[in-house]
Amino acid sequence: MSKRYTITAALPYTNGPIHIGHLAGVYVPADIYSRYLRLTGNDVAFICGSDEHGVPITIKAKKEGVTPQDIVDKYHAIIKQSFIDFGITFDNYSRTTAKIHHDTAQEFFKTLYDKNEFVEEVTEQLYDAEANQFLADRFVTGTCPKCGNEEAYGDQCESCGSSLNATDLINPKSAITGNVPSLKETKHWFLPLNKHEDFLREWILKGHKKDWKPNVYGQVKSWIDDGLRPRAVTRDLDWGIPVPVEGGEGKVLYVWFDAPIGYISATKEWAAREGKNWEDYWKDEDTKLVHFIGKDNIVFHCIIFPAMLKAEGSYILPDNVPANEFLNLEGQKLSTSKNWAVWLPDYLIDFPNQQDVLRYALTANAPESKDNDFTWKDFQARNNNELVAIFGNFINRVVVLTNKYYDGIIPAPSDYSTIDEETLAAVKAYPAVISSSIERYRFREASQELMNLARLGNKYLADEEPWKTFKTDEARTETVMFVALQIASALAVLSEPFLPFTSTKLKGILNSNGNGWKDVSTKDILIPAAHQIGKGELLFSKIEDSEIQIQLDKLEASKKANEAEKKVVEPQKEEITFDDFTKLDLRVGTIIEAEKMPKTKKLLVLKVDTGIDTRTIVSGIAESFSPEDVIGKRVTVLVNLAPRALRGVESQGMILMTEDETGKLVFVNPDTSTALSTSDGVKNGLQIS
Ligand code: 2FM
Ligand code: ZN
Repeated sequence: MSKRYTITAALPYTNGPIHIGHLAGVYVPADIYSRYLRLTGNDVAFICGSDEHGVPITIKAKKEGVTPQDIVDKYHAIIKQSFIDFGITFDNYSRTTAKIHHDTAQEFFKTLYDKNEFVEEVTEQLYDAEANQFLADRFVTGTCPKCGNEEAYGDQCESCGSSLNATDLINPKSAITGNVPSLKETKHWFLPLNKHEDFLREWILKGHKKDWKPNVYGQVKSWIDDGLRPRAVTRDLDWGIPVPVEGGEGKVLYVWFDAPIGYISATKEWAAREGKNWEDYWKDEDTKLVHFIGKDNIVFHCIIFPAMLKAEGSYILPDNVPANEFLNLEGQKLSTSKNWAVWLPDYLIDFPNQQDVLRYALTANAPESKDNDFTWKDFQARNNNELVAIFGNFINRVVVLTNKYYDGIIPAPSDYSTIDEETLAAVKAYPAVISSSIERYRFREASQELMNLARLGNKYLADEEPWKTFKTDEARTETVMFVALQIASALAVLSEPFLPFTSTKLKGILNSNGNGWKDVSTKDILIPAAHQIGKGELLFSKIEDSEIQIQLDKLEASKKANEAEKKVVEPQKEEITFDDFTKLDLRVGTIIEAEKMPKTKKLLVLKVDTGIDTRTIVSGIAESFSPEDVIGKRVTVLVNLAPRALRGVESQGMILMTEDETGKLVFVNPDTSTALSTSDGVKNGLQIS
């Protein structure tokens, strides 16, 4: 039966582009779900937009010397376009700086205020006197009181997931100036979550009965069991939605108060454009509200926003919040600041017209019940071994043979064999199987069932071998090709939520657009005899190792840049005179022997031909070079350094070393660009150590 759905996808912060973590956690599953519901005849409002307030945006703007509005304008445009290019079918992608949102959020606040749903309180908050600013949320860092993480933020500890108040932090530090903040009184409005505890407990338990994901239920239950506290919903900031009540001057709504209301304002904007009534999507008990989010947003969507909606009184509550866990990349946590990510705009450039490959790889390996790892090798394997070798191969064989044998005109079948009947019956069962997985938010499982249908097609062709019967049994070949074309048609329909670009392409090749999801299980014939199909066109192409290597190299470059950034640059040493410098007798020498100093980790004993003599030099480079690495190397030697004994061996000079841009120890090599000129001084920032 057709139903009405409001499906929301977490509003992304506009301080950077979208990456694969966002896609796998939120947008791909939400899009599969929405496309599926539309295909099965439901009334869907799929809603999202840019989350444009909040401290991270202010911090980024400060860093770049631009206004927060500049930042959000830039990223809103980038994010919106990349979603379109990736085939995410939001019915509306709005933004929280839109007037309709400011009005809606203020009105919502005002309603709760008028209903006395807030507690107004003057409390001492952290204050940075130098920046003349109260420090909330990400403006302050410190040690998490729950897990001891020293880099917790004023609103949340990313290590243990606890939601915090800035004043909870141990050893707080201003993110603006680095100063230790003082305490200063200020008035704020608090949502007394404690007042809603009983309601929330009962609601969550009810939700659990409806099969909420265990990770979501577990997190929410433990929050409630810990006891809920009032939560400030206003801030002393100048970027955000002004607090619309007396005494609110100079204050704005907390970003996590306004952002989820963004789902409502985006629905209003869409409804006005489409001539619909937005309230049907938010206030009708028959509407199913589903929030797609990542696990770091669970508390906001399962406790705070429901408490806000309940306090307001006229809204429905979410039916489910199928939050995903996190996706890592090549074994490491995704990080915007460390550029450890696969950015959607970059992917779309590097892999043109291959949106479905990423959609499939992310779905087949979605972090649904635990954190998962995205690797480029897995991405390549999903494409080459599944999309190309199974799905693409089946379609290609069907289309090529139909064109070759029948000029693309679908032959009429004769009597079905048992295998044919079983195969057609199996095809008919797929919509229900895939539906059941999607409706239980098991998108990985659903995507594998789709691939199983393609496997069924391949097996059918391999068993029935129309390329053999073509020479011996015309009627049988026609029947087999007819059946295979029914499977191809089913794939064209059922792949749409997962592989929308492929589905469109395949419908084009089959010249068939008329079937719906249910038709696959109810119709005996999806594509009739005598129907003309188009010429073949490859649905997927192999991804070569070289393409994967380019991506791995990009990540390696990020890693190196991060390491270089982490490296502490030693301050410049005390000034020396030119005369001091000329005292150094630097010569080019060659290492002719090398061995490890016994019982040490770091020392190599070298014999160096300096041009004057051959001498012994003990060098602390054994952790970076083996003796074999260095024999024959031309090196720069400080020959007039006073000899000194190291572990009983007299060292008569020093080999000059430095670090490259990645922090790796390298020789100051007279044969390369790091060469020295003894007359001009030391080039390239070499350190003599
Ligand atoms: O975590 C985030 O990226 C937030 N911008 C999500 C907001 S979701 C909603 F409530 F708006
Ligand atoms: Zn913590």
